[in-house]
Amino acid sequence: MRNISVIGSGTMGNGIAHVFAQNGFDVSLIDISEAALTKGLATIEKNIDRQVKKGILKELDKPFILKRITTYTRVNDGVKNADLVIEAATENKEVKKQIFQRLEEFAPESAILATNTSSISITEIASQSKRPEMIIGMHFMNPVPIMQLVEVIRGYNTSDETTGIIMSLCEKIEKVPVEVNDYPGFISNRILMPMINEAIYSLHEGVAGVREIDTVMKLGMAHPMGPLQLADFIGLDVCLSILKVLYEGFNLPKYAPCPLLVNMVNAGHLGVKSGSGFYIHNKENKDLVVSPSFV
Ligand SMILES: NC(=O)c1ccc[n+]([C@@H]2O[C@H](COP(=O)([O-])OP(=O)(O)OC[C@H]3O[C@@H](n4cnc5c(N)ncnc54)[C@H](O)[C@@H]3O)[C@@H](O)[C@H]2O)c1
Repeated sequence: MRNISVIGSGTMGNGIAHVFAQNGFDVSLIDISEAALTKGLATIEKNIDRQVKKGILKELDKPFILKRITTYTRVNDGVKNADLVIEAATENKEVKKQIFQRLEEFAPESAILATNTSSISITEIASQSKRPEMIIGMHFMNPVPIMQLVEVIRGYNTSDETTGIIMSLCEKIEKVPVEVNDYPGFISNRILMPMINEAIYSLHEGVAGVREIDTVMKLGMAHPMGPLQLADFIGLDVCLSILKVLYEGFNLPKYAPCPLLVNMVNAGHLGVKSGSGFYIHNKENKDLVVSPSFV
């Protein structure tokens, strides 16, 4: 494997491109939006500077890493020499299905096709493909240059060979891969999202306040961040859509999204991205302030 194509230059895509380029791979970074590519490259540069400051990289490495990344606005051009394509575009089933249709046509037949989806079934994404045994989930965690885990998800038809190649590739980029099967939420979100949902139910039912719930989980369970603060970081809309996938996928009431979460999303209180969720988020205020709705 030499040439890695990454589709989507947003939060995850630029991080994935960064990590592969840092480990000596040639990367084609593809996004339909020129602005997203510019922003993605700027983020990579900023994150390399941070790694230099921390002594993880040398200043001298920076131009070499950046030189290994080429940007494209058309999937057709960006995947034609790919050994591996990692799709990290918007979390929308139709968008992903369309991208995979184009990959059928434009990626080399020998290329493994991976998706970084956090909740869509790998088996369903592969269902239209002529090479379902070469389609796999590579679920990187945010922020990609820092987080060690890659959840490697086997679709129903993913072959042992494809899985083996991807597991050892993850080790080459200094990540820790964990193999899981393709069921709703995989492992990470199947466990994380019900915990977040239960924290929201506890708030909704008046068992405790925002700060109290987060403090119990931080100091009592040694979580680096409480579940409500984490939900704000992930985005309450993202949490809701993953819970819906679990609820619909398993058809069990234990995954039913808390009505408070549904209300907050409908009201546009999405967490960090909208400036307020369970906490208020603004650049001036570094201290965590609980949102007025919960005081
Ligand atoms: N953000 C997270 O914490 C996180 C964590 C793990 C996995 N994921 C998954 O990673 C994927 C990307 O998430 P993100 O947070 O980086 O999203 P994002 O919104 O930050 O970026 C998505 C990018 O995809 C681009 N895009 C949309 N349609 C495209 C197309 N047809 N071709 C090329 N580019 C296209 C958009 O322009 C955008 O720049 C999603 O599947 C998400 O579920 C996200």
